Amino acid sequence: MFTILTGAQFGDEGKGKIIDILSESYDIVVRFQGGDNAGHTVVVGGKKFKLHLVPSGVLFGKRLLIGPGVVLNPRVLWDEIRALTSEGVQLDLGIDAKTSIIMPYHIELDRLSEKARTNKIGTTSRGIGFAYMDKVSREEIRMEDLTDPDLIEAKLMEISLSKEKAIIQLGGDPSVVRQGLDEYIKIGQHLKDVVTDVSREINIALLDEKSVLAEGAQGAFLDIVHGTQEFVTSSFTTAGSACANLGVGPVVVDNVVGVLKAYITRVGEGPLPTELKDEIGKRIREVGGEYGTTTGRPRRCGWFDAVLALKSIYLNGYTELALTKLDVLSGLDPVRICVGYELDGQKIGYPPESTMLLAKCKPIYEDMPGWKNDITDVLDFGDLPENSKAYVERLEDLLGVDISAISVGPGREQTIYMEETRS
Ligand code: GDP
Ligand code: IMO
Ligand code: MG
Repeated sequence: MFTILTGAQFGDEGKGKIIDILSESYDIVVRFQGGDNAGHTVVVGGKKFKLHLVPSGVLFGKRLLIGPGVVLNPRVLWDEIRALTSEGVQLDLGIDAKTSIIMPYHIELDRLSEKARTNKIGTTSRGIGFAYMDKVSREEIRMEDLTDPDLIEAKLMEISLSKEKAIIQLGGDPSVVRQGLDEYIKIGQHLKDVVTDVSREINIALLDEKSVLAEGAQGAFLDIVHGTQEFVTSSFTTAGSACANLGVGPVVVDNVVGVLKAYITRVGEGPLPTELKDEIGKRIREVGGEYGTTTGRPRRCGWFDAVLALKSIYLNGYTELALTKLDVLSGLDPVRICVGYELDGQKIGYPPESTMLLAKCKPIYEDMPGWKNDITDVLDFGDLPENSKAYVERLEDLLGVDISAISVGPGREQTIYMEETRS
């Protein structure tokens, strides 16, 4: 069985939590794109794990893979491995030989170019875009180079001049190009034995009737092709990308799970039609703990946007949805759902393809009565307050895809499984 899970909004939908839950029934959990710009939170037994690179199946002791479409900062990965092992968590990790390495100069170039921009993107300053640029321009350093001191030295010699020039041009210090090399080489030696061929492993696992869960990072509207350009990340965040990045044929896909928050958030710049700049937005931020897992930045919050969600369903072909953070809406009345936009006096039900036009869209809301009770301990759909059930059912109607799980708190156990309700 091959399942792909992706974020259906602007990232931080709660993918980490849902992957953790699902991973119990999978043999392999694999990251296929992005890098440590991702911050996936898993809360088990009251303990919080913030994962940037290690796949979120780690707490169930699954085979964990990092595919060649990922851009990997070895320092971040090494810190994460050490933090997990110091907590007694065992890792069975494999990293593809072709995985791109984020070098210190990528991070510096990211920082300097963001500083120089008038219209900022609000990147995570993790060097993501510059590492992907080097992949496309074929100037990347790969995992196989990191584990061979001679290879990494030789590669760096070849490209250092152009990197130094680029940094000087942006007013930075070119010495960063060779900074940290010794540490990188050391980490490379530690990771030597985990280098693998991810496509081969996955294909063999599938032939052996094992199950594979592909863990997306970021979200649909941060996709480099289909997102809200130029306020996007530099990788393909939608489900189709899992096959291309992992080297498996599209016919092997069984399920595509989309994770949606019961409202919407965005961190960084770019349009967010339902953004609430008022007390309600602040309240959602505080109750939902909406601060970046990676950067700590406050996330912009807004009402659920069914118009964007519809596009996300097209982009990903979801077979089911997981709805997270329903508990955060408790106490709000009404609870609003954006069911259309007004653009230049016209009503539309699907987002315009142009980001500039999306930024001009005004949400049209449908109001639903709110609910007061705390729902963080509810385990059965039937036990939810009537109004919160009606809210979920309305979302399902609007989206036309089954909601298979509802999350009512960060903990693993704070989850309502709809299959049990329906059967
Ligand atoms: P990801 O990047 O999609 O994995 O999401 P993040 O981990 O960046 O952000 C989601 C945040 O919400 C984390 O702090 C989670 O622990 C938390 N979370 C996940 N599901 C729920 C939920 O249903 N209710 C509440 N209150 N918090 C949740
Ligand atoms: P997870 O996997 C939310 C956003 C950044 C910025 C834009 C580009 O935790 O959902 P980048 O550093 O990628 O070049 O920044 O993308 N961004 C995210 N927003 N969640 C993420 O990951 C994100 N990863 C990148 O804030 O707007
Ligand atoms: Mg996150």
